[in-house]
Amino acid sequence: MSQMIQFTIDGVEVTGQTGQTIMQAADAAGIYIPRLCFLKGLSPYGACRVCTVMVNGRPQTACTQPIANDMVVENDTAALLEVRRSIVEMLYVEGNHFCMFCEVSGKCELQALGYRFKMMVPKYPFQYPDREIDASHPDLFIDRSRCVLCARCIRSSKELDGKNAYGFVGRGPSKKIAFNSAEGLAGTEASVDDKAAEACPVGTILKKDTAFRVPYGQRKYDAQPIGSEIEATKPQ
Ligand code: SF4
Ligand code: FES
Repeated sequence: MSQMIQFTIDGVEVTGQTGQTIMQAADAAGIYIPRLCFLKGLSPYGACRVCTVMVNGRPQTACTQPIANDMVVENDTAALLEVRRSIVEMLYVEGNHFCMFCEVSGKCELQALGYRFKMMVPKYPFQYPDREIDASHPDLFIDRSRCVLCARCIRSSKELDGKNAYGFVGRGPSKKIAFNSAEGLAGTEASVDDKAAEACPVGTILKKDTAFRVPYGQRKYDAQPIGSEIEATKPQ
């Protein structure tokens, strides 16, 4: 039987239930903790560390850390903002994120985090990776140069679509998104209607037919900052 758990986030009393993570309890309380590899409905992955919070003075990922009574969580601090901004900056320079040309500009979570964190010019050098694209699928296009290795497509394909179309190969800088077929994505069961085709937070998985259907300027994060839908639910 679940029990109530009380703790604080930035000094605000939060009540959650046993089994919840910090992020789940924060979301329910209308407190936004930035995230990138987390996607509601999928098992947590804990890879990007954008959701790093301080728990009783120690860094933890909010998407994986269970809540406990009397826990003291810090989320909205200058130091954590700097950590998160640095992570986003690193992800920007590791890929080819040219927002002005990108199909997902305005609905990209990485771009929206950059705006939220007031990122200006990244302090790291751009790497301009040359990674192969996969256009083999009739309805989907894969640009690996924008992949942030969040595994949202992999988890969605397995956990929500009941398929196993996507995976990773390689290690370290060579790690990249791959498909469960030697023929590329076209050789898998992947479909444009899959949850996995919706799960990508950046512009790696693109739908060929619907690209640019919503014009720039009318996309989700053109109208509201990322996280504002959670903050709007905070009790006054
Ligand atoms: S293709 Fe998209 S969803 Fe899949 S790992 Fe890369 S960034 Fe994440
Ligand atoms: S959102 Fe928690 S580690 Fe990525």
